Amino acid sequence: MEEFYRISRLPPYVFAAVNELKDAARHRGEDIIDFGMGNPDQPTPQHIVDKLIEAARQGRNHRYSVSRGINGLRKAICAYYKRRFDVDLDPDSEAIVSIGSKEGYSHLALAITSPGDTVLVPNPTYPIHVYAFVLAGADIRHVPLCRTTDFFEELTQAMAHTWPKPKVLVINFPSNPTAMVVDLPFYEKVVAFAKENDLYVLSDIAYSEICFDGYDCPSMLQVPGAKDCVIEFYSLSKTYNMPGWRVGFAVGNKRLVRALTRIKSYLDYGMFQPIQIAATVALNGPQECIGEIRSLYQSRRDVLLEGLGRAGWEIERPKASMFVWAHIPEEFRKLGSLEFSKLLLKEAQVAVSPGIGFGQYGDEFVRIALIENELRTRQAIRSIKKFLNAGGDVRS
Ligand SMILES: Cc1ncc(COP(=O)(O)O)c(C=O)c1O
Repeated sequence: MEEFYRISRLPPYVFAAVNELKDAARHRGEDIIDFGMGNPDQPTPQHIVDKLIEAARQGRNHRYSVSRGINGLRKAICAYYKRRFDVDLDPDSEAIVSIGSKEGYSHLALAITSPGDTVLVPNPTYPIHVYAFVLAGADIRHVPLCRTTDFFEELTQAMAHTWPKPKVLVINFPSNPTAMVVDLPFYEKVVAFAKENDLYVLSDIAYSEICFDGYDCPSMLQVPGAKDCVIEFYSLSKTYNMPGWRVGFAVGNKRLVRALTRIKSYLDYGMFQPIQIAATVALNGPQECIGEIRSLYQSRRDVLLEGLGRAGWEIERPKASMFVWAHIPEEFRKLGSLEFSKLLLKEAQVAVSPGIGFGQYGDEFVRIALIENELRTRQAIRSIKKFLNAGGDVRS
């Protein structure tokens, strides 16, 4: 039977190959150290959980909520952006709550795309940046984003040689998977480029608070006039260790916020209200927890990179995100990232994400998520060291 049209547009899931091997190894009783998924392992701060419980006890919070988010939460979002980035936003027309930032992003793609539209997306990138638009019927122009390429040069080339002219540009810093970061002048250039070329920009800053070594992540909305063309997606998943709660939001350009509000008003009734109330407390309440979350990732990063460095695998130190983007050791690079990840799993019992899963320009890399504690991280370093010393064949 012919596959459904939209399903047929989704290629086989690259990560499934590693996940299947991982599940099979676990089934055999092997202890797999899992750096695969960017899924925070720590609990949500207690005061946020307490608020959820308190709100869940109130019957009035059990009814349908509002799709675009309750007033209090939208006000808290705008107050947060003012404090954090000194950006002024109107809670009624420039902010909308989403069921995780992924949902908001995907439904905005659906809301604004006509079949055959072209979208500029960096490569490598978080898969939904591509597939939300693929599902919405768009064609993707991949823009290489690597340390060896000039992004604006690539962007200019892509714009010049793509027809029909792209309408949307996706930007994500700190980047998943590369952990690359940028400064405000970079965003100024993006906004200028977008205005010159009549593009809307979707900026995803899901990792904006997970910054190290004094790096302070900007918001694209800090650029004067950015609201003319930019909508920014923010996530509470990493900032407050709330991935399972599914809370995110989008702020910025009124036309885009309105489009997302309208499509969501048809599709959902909003998050469970106690979650929205607890999310309001997360944004308005004490912020020390963010520093603690940041320090945890930073010390895991240091343990991992120092250990792997001693094992002979030198990796660039990321300034942000919960990921290490590791150039595959030269002697294994020709295998490609998928085969290398499978080998690492089989021989060292360590799971990582193959870079090819984020796009063709990621194939010399693997992504290591900092989601295992220091003890387990050290255990992984020992196995990887043995693996590297044995030239990849530990059991022979
Ligand atoms: C770059 C990026 N954007 C968005 C998300 C999804 O965030 P949320 O949990 O808010 O849907 C992730 C999750 O890993 C991500 O890496």
